[in-house]
Amino acid sequence: MAIHKVAIAGGTGNLGPAIVNAALDAGFEITLLSRSTSHQLDPRINVQVVDYESLDSLTAALTGQDALVNALGVGVVPRDIHLRLVDAAHAAKVQRYIPSEFGSDTANQLTAQLPVFGDKVAVAQKLQEIAGQDEDFGYTAVITGPFFDWGLKNKFIINLDGPTAQIYDGGDVPVSTTTLAGIGRAVAGVLRHPRETKNRYVYIAEAEVTQNKLLEWSGKADQIEKEAFKSEDLEQQAYGALKQPIPDPRTFARNLILRAIYGSKFGGKFTQVDNELLGVRTLSESEIVDIVKQYA
Ligand SMILES: NC(=O)c1ccc[n+]([C@@H]2O[C@H](COP(=O)([O-])OP(=O)(O)OC[C@H]3O[C@@H](n4cnc5c(N)ncnc54)[C@H](OP(=O)(O)O)[C@@H]3O)[C@@H](O)[C@H]2O)c1
Repeated sequence: MAIHKVAIAGGTGNLGPAIVNAALDAGFEITLLSRSTSHQLDPRINVQVVDYESLDSLTAALTGQDALVNALGVGVVPRDIHLRLVDAAHAAKVQRYIPSEFGSDTANQLTAQLPVFGDKVAVAQKLQEIAGQDEDFGYTAVITGPFFDWGLKNKFIINLDGPTAQIYDGGDVPVSTTTLAGIGRAVAGVLRHPRETKNRYVYIAEAEVTQNKLLEWSGKADQIEKEAFKSEDLEQQAYGALKQPIPDPRTFARNLILRAIYGSKFGGKFTQVDNELLGVRTLSESEIVDIVKQYA
């Protein structure tokens, strides 16, 4: 089986454009599923306006496609929509489904149990169920760690603007991370290698960093005050927040994602990566420092 025609849902968000660009560069024919035609897009992209509430609308849009990459937000976009997209892709005889993972290792038992990843785990279970019954249908989950450039820009991995930076579990925890462009290349790599990536999780890491190293590389270590946090406490606070009548996702989602990134045994540092198969390079220290300095 070879993949030529690729549908991308959510190609206009934080991550989606990097996937769209890499897939176009790799020569795939791209159809973007979107709620509207108002986005400014490369003229090579076909746009299909879809109603994510309608199985028929999604199935019609996916008919004739070889693969679907789902880059919709998770949490923001309800679980029902993610599950409906799986049903639609299967009904439309799409061969490969790449779910909206692109983050922490949800194949890790501890990470999978964190409520913030419930939607991703539910989708993975459904994909495994269908792939187990229909050998013409397959999935590949792409695990990337926190986005490196986006995470620095949005002060998620660390706040290099100061005056304070939140440091988790001492700041020396190694974390696997990849830039948006690197994730785009990895997705194109999966689409080029459907056989080798069928029905499994693939792992990519362009860099392995610690918060203390990031501070050092930023050149601002002596200007930024460290605020120490334990990821275990963040997890407990998140469970407290989840007991509220209307839980605030800014507390519970953020805390639980940080727990998955920094907590020991949550799989934040990958033991094995698929970089070579998927055409993803490991960045040199000077390339990493250049990226850090852009956001410091
Ligand atoms: N590892 C990390 O550091 C990290 C960081 C951020 C995200 N992620 C992951 O990356 C994946 C994609 O996340 P993202 O942040 O790129 O997604 P996003 O920007 O929140 O959303 C992507 C697209 O979803 C579409 N959409 C459809 N229904 C929507 C709705 N009801 N509300 C809002 N948007 C809707 C929009 O496209 P249209 O307007 O074209 O319909 C939007 O541009 C997720 O799996 C997320 O968990 C990981």
